[in-house]
Amino acid sequence: MDIRQKIKEIENSAHEALSSKRAALADDLIKLKNDFLGKTGRISELMKGMRDVAPEDRPTVGKLLNDLRSAIGEKFDAAIEGAKAKELELRFKKEAVDVTMPGRTPETGAVHPNTLVKDELVSIFAGMGFEVFEGPEIENDYYNFTALNTPADHPARDMQDTFYISENLLLRTQTSAGQIRVMENKKPPIKILSPGKVYRSDDDATHSPMFSQMEGLVVDKGITLCDLKGMLDVFAERIFGKGVKTRLRPSYFPFTEPSVEVDVSCFECGGKGCRLCKGTGWIEVLGAGMVNRRVLEGCGIDPDVYSGFAFGMGIERIAMLKYGVNNMKLLFEGDIRFLKQFKD
Ligand code: PHE
Repeated sequence: MDIRQKIKEIENSAHEALSSKRAALADDLIKLKNDFLGKTGRISELMKGMRDVAPEDRPTVGKLLNDLRSAIGEKFDAAIEGAKAKELELRFKKEAVDVTMPGRTPETGAVHPNTLVKDELVSIFAGMGFEVFEGPEIENDYYNFTALNTPADHPARDMQDTFYISENLLLRTQTSAGQIRVMENKKPPIKILSPGKVYRSDDDATHSPMFSQMEGLVVDKGITLCDLKGMLDVFAERIFGKGVKTRLRPSYFPFTEPSVEVDVSCFECGGKGCRLCKGTGWIEVLGAGMVNRRVLEGCGIDPDVYSGFAFGMGIERIAMLKYGVNNMKLLFEGDIRFLKQFKD
């Protein structure tokens, strides 16, 4: 067959192939293009046939072949580009994200009100130079009672219903146990804050067998009850709000002398009397006092040189007052509907 005829034939079959493959994938079109224009493709085969063309015809036939090659090449390239664009468009459509669709928000937790109060207390007292010390929850009878001037058979032991593990070991009933551990190991000046869990066999709407306390202890030369009162005034305003005042009422703890019960003026009614303060205008928030000489002595601190004050408060009680929670159990149940309300 004449080479010109072959050229025509290839041209036709390329056109035919292209028009029948309109919906083909870019990859298939690339393969097809190779069949015509690749190293061993049909056009390369024809090129080899140039040897047999008469010399005077070579320039024209050569031009025909070159024209054919570039014409087919362009057509294939255009088809491939077109197919690629279509494929990309399809992919975009499939992968499209509807940014107007409402998102699925993962459930996140909230900081527990106990932790909120604890952190706030630590930050208030850290601002006054207190350091945090955490004692063990399982204590010796000595640290929880005896060293706190509450020897065996002391009637004050009945103030706290204790969980004993053995005769000598117990679940601490008060973070005051930590006072002794600190004073045994550190000489004045001492200024520590001791948060932690405590345990008492007690269970009702305002008591739980496990609850949390925050203990404070200051020992130095010349510490007086006025220092305690001044510091409590700062604490009360920071925790319960501006204008809240404190008052001290005489009380009894074996390890403090004198001992006081600390009230804050009712932040709900401003002191006029309401349901929260049971009409008294005052709310009891913590126990405190001047560290008993016997306790200092027992820790090797000379009570004629040094004096100190201590205070202890229930964190749950502060949280209940601050956030208006009327049942302590809410703080232990972990009900998400309750906890959610503390999200900021
Ligand atoms: N530990 C006492 C209690 O749990 C509170 C307290 C602490 C009192 C420090 C005085 C000084 O009741």
